[in-house]
Parts: sequence; structure tokens; C-alpha cells
Amino acid sequence: MTIDLRSDTLTRPTAEMRRAMAEAQVGDDVFGEDPTVNALQERVAELFGKEAALFTPTGSLANVLGVASLVEPGQEVLCEASAHIARAELGAHGALTGLTMRTWRHPRGQVDLAAIQEMYAPDMGPFFVRTTAVSVENTHNFAGGAVLPLADLQALRAWADSVGCGVHLDGARLWNAHVATGVPLAAYGACADVVSVCLSKGLGAPVGSLVIGSADAIATARVRRKRMGGGMRQVGILAAAGMHALDHHVERLAEDHAHARLLAEACGLEPATVDTNIVVVPRSDAGGFVASAREEDVLVSQVGPHAVRLVTHLDVSKADAEAAAAVLARL
Ligand SMILES: Cc1ncc(COP(=O)(O)O)c(C=O)c1O
Repeated sequence: MTIDLRSDTLTRPTAEMRRAMAEAQVGDDVFGEDPTVNALQERVAELFGKEAALFTPTGSLANVLGVASLVEPGQEVLCEASAHIARAELGAHGALTGLTMRTWRHPRGQVDLAAIQEMYAPDMGPFFVRTTAVSVENTHNFAGGAVLPLADLQALRAWADSVGCGVHLDGARLWNAHVATGVPLAAYGACADVVSVCLSKGLGAPVGSLVIGSADAIATARVRRKRMGGGMRQVGILAAAGMHALDHHVERLAEDHAHARLLAEACGLEPATVDTNIVVVPRSDAGGFVASAREEDVLVSQVGPHAVRLVTHLDVSKADAEAAAAVLARL
């Protein structure tokens, strides 16, 4: 049987999740009348200590709407150089919002407050692009699922408040950070004006993300979502999968983290360097390694000429992780 470690987006809904979806109460969500969507939005807003949340089909759209709530066309957002918003959203923020980006670089995707302070450009009238937001990613995908320490986020928040700059948190895998550290979701929420989270990664839902923030920001995001063609109708069927995931698939992320450490050890890495469910393995022959693993029914992805990525998730059991570890150790 193939063990697929390419991404945590590959999970298929469980039988219980499918049942919850089939039984969902639904209505027209463009009219604001889908009770399951409304319940999910209220639940997630409350978890993060915010006024409102909006269900979106993807994390990319949640990020576009979230960043656009802080940055107007012609203004800039600062982010880490390998942030998903900079590298993997196909230029959506420039193309759709009309903003520019400048980046700082950190090998583990961390907040570099000194670099941010140096880059930050206040309003200088007709001279320089004005910075109106900083975006951070927790956990950081391309930095191998690295967690951003709460203290660093709090320091960013305090500085941003002092200069009047917004903070966006790409929390596609914030659930993993929460489970790995025990930091309450509301504590992360307090560090950002707007947060995006995904249900379709570690939580195992087939579709769905949310953008979370003030009532005003979310009301505007709702208009923009519709403008971009993202107004959905009886989408409670999908929100029900998210509700089920929140009930049953959050605490179990600890298992994925343990499996990731097992795989890291098999690949000769120090397990303690793996914060959550993603392992980046440096390999001079990354392409060859991916092909050899595939021959042994273990799917991993190449994320650079010299880097291979392994991701654990709901569909990788302990036995799968052990079997994959044996193959990878041999290779
Ligand atoms: C950190 C991060 N943010 C945002 C996204 C975008 O999510 P989606 O694929 O649902 O657009 C991803 C997807 O992998 C991600 O890893």
C-alpha cells in the first residue's frame, strides 16, 4: 500500500465526517442563511477572540481577503521571503489587491523584528510606498512546519501598535502550533488584526478555510469574496466537515507530530528540530531520492534542488509512519 507523505492536504474525509456532511443543515450562504456555516464562523471567531469570521473555499483566498483588509492598492505588506503569500499564491496579492511586498529572510521563517523595523516605511506622502501591514506564517510551511514563538508574535504586536501597523497571521497550520505548544488559540488571535486558518490541511476536511477579524473587516471581506466569485450557496455541507474536524481532529495532531519526529530520525535528523508535522530533509540528490522512495511506495516531494519534504497527516497511521521510516532510513 502506498504511503503518501507529500502533503497534509491529501487526506480523504473519514466515514464519520462524510456522515456529518450528509446530515448538515443548509441554507443559502450568500443570503447569510446557512446555519452550519454561521455556526462554524461564530465558533471559529470565538476560538480566536475575534468579532467575526468568514468561510472561504481556500487558504489562499482567506489570505488575500485578510491582507487586503490591512493593505490598500499601492501600499505594501512585509513578510518572510519564503512565506506562502509571497511564494505560493501565484502573485494573487499583487494581481488582485494591487499591493507590493518586501521581505526579510530567515531560515526558519521566524519574525525578525529588527529587520521589520528597518524596512518599515511610514506614510511619506508622495515619496515612498507606505507599509501598512506585516504578515507572519505560523506554522511556517517552507521552513519545515516551524512554530513562531508566542513571545516573538507579542513583541511584533506591541511594536506594530506603537507605529500603527497592521498584522496578518497566515495560520493555515496554526492548529498544529497550538497543539505543539499548548498556546491558546486566542493568545495567537490577540497578536494579529486578521488571521486565516485552514480546515483542509491537518484537520482533514476536504475544503475550507476562514478569515477571522473585526466585524468591519469581515463585512468588507464578504463583499470582496463575492466579487471574486467566492460566494457559495448551500455550503453548510462543507462547513459541517469543518465542524466535525474541530470536534475530532485537533488534539490528534500530536500524533502527526510524533510521526514526523520518527521520520526525521530515520532520515538522520535530530527529531527535536521538528516542531510539528513537516520534515524538510536536505539531500544533494533530491530528485533521485524522491524517485527511489516512490519505487518503494513511499511518496515524498521535492521542494528544492537539494531538499525533500515529508508531511504527516490523518491518513498516515503509526504503522504507516514506521514502515515509511524503514524505507527512508534504508535509502
Ligand atoms: C502556510 C499556507 N498558507 C496558505 C495556504 C493556501 O491554502 P490553499 O491551498 O487552501 O489555498 C497553504 C497551502 O498549502 C499554506 O501552506
